[in-house]
Amino acid sequence: MTKERVTLGGKLSAVLVAAGSAVGLGNIWRFPYIAGENGGGAFLLIYIGCILLLGLPILLAEFAVGRHTHRNSVGAFKSLSKGWSFIGYNSALAAFLILGFYFVVSGWTLEYFIKSLSGDIAQYTSSAVNTELFRSFTLNPWRPVVYTAIFVLLTHVVIALGVQKGIERSSKLMMPVLFIVLIVLAVRAITMPGGLEGLRFLFTPDFSKVSAKTFLDAMGQAFFSLSISLGCMVTYASYFTRKTSLQATALNVVGLDTLVAVLAAMVIFPAVFSVGIEPTSGPSLVFITLPSIFSTMPFGAAWSAVFFLLLVLAALTSTISLHEVLTAYLHEEWHMSRRASAWCVTAATMLLSVAASLSLGAWNDFRIFGLNIFDSLDFVTANVMLPLGGLCTSLFVGWRLKRSLLHDEITNHGELRCRLFGVLVVLLRYVCPVLLLLIFLYNLGLFRL
Ligand code: PFF
Repeated sequence: MTKERVTLGGKLSAVLVAAGSAVGLGNIWRFPYIAGENGGGAFLLIYIGCILLLGLPILLAEFAVGRHTHRNSVGAFKSLSKGWSFIGYNSALAAFLILGFYFVVSGWTLEYFIKSLSGDIAQYTSSAVNTELFRSFTLNPWRPVVYTAIFVLLTHVVIALGVQKGIERSSKLMMPVLFIVLIVLAVRAITMPGGLEGLRFLFTPDFSKVSAKTFLDAMGQAFFSLSISLGCMVTYASYFTRKTSLQATALNVVGLDTLVAVLAAMVIFPAVFSVGIEPTSGPSLVFITLPSIFSTMPFGAAWSAVFFLLLVLAALTSTISLHEVLTAYLHEEWHMSRRASAWCVTAATMLLSVAASLSLGAWNDFRIFGLNIFDSLDFVTANVMLPLGGLCTSLFVGWRLKRSLLHDEITNHGELRCRLFGVLVVLLRYVCPVLLLLIFLYNLGLFRL
């Protein structure tokens, strides 16, 4: 099996593919509003701390598991230890459930992109009007469903083309475009009148807004943003070659992911400050606040199209990675052809995401523990499955996996040096499990801060 398995081209491909998974709506949509709610610059510092203490070690652990086994996420954990194979199942199930709502939000980005191209975005003149337009769009029984379905099919096309021709090629094309677009937008936003005020907010830490909850928010965001605990990084690393440096790849992915989040905040805060809106307006920042800013700008529809194109690309590289987790699982564990596996995943995620989309409107009365389908998918994955997966991965790799195996993977069998290997083991054994247990218990409401 090891011999016939496809591998990614070179170093750059490994970085771009993994960064493609990490960079997504989490960076551009979620990071700015969470930072806005938690004191801007102060949050950024805490976030970077979480990335280093929690994100980087678990990312390396997942890379080591994936590359060593050369298997999909379920097969990888199963082949290392039957008793811990539940980590793989948890990750595959979580990937499926996340796709359920991620496809819906991705569909919205596509709708806004098309609206910008057609010039319809000009109707979005004020927050009040935009709120109403956004509400009526998400409540509409078919439009968001159609866009969600288109997004699922776009993802399917890339997956169906295969690991090299689909995933690798599309990441090599989409990631550079994404960076260029982001930099152009950041320059545009900073040079708006009052834009520098936004930068000051982002880079001047205001510790008065920091609470214990800020740390938990930062940890959760670091986790989601790096795509860890969902099998994506295990699956992608299973396509790395024996020569790929896991350390360099992980550092690059973490660096690029954080850079994109900071750049996205450098687009959004200056824009928001230039029109005097509070940066704390929550999840609606991107779909409600920003369109009203675009509508006041010269060539607003064009800027809006560029911005939503950025979101579409970011979302697509992430949905591809989540789809691949499931496709690789069905292909390798259920011995189905890759084509059939991809279609099964597409059909199942299509059903789930259409249900999640409808649950915001027509099916809103259907509730699971008081939440509609969309919110319950978000809740159970972000609050339960992600921290639990991370906790078990760090315990497994820190305590159960042979230390020599981890060392061999991290150093490419002694070819590379890893001065901080001892620190990595301490982080995986003690620091990550304790922090993740705290997040998990807090999210379940078992203690309050
Ligand atoms: N990391 C992606 C983002 O920041 O939007 C989301 C994501 C993709 C999470 C893949 C988890 C995952 F496995």
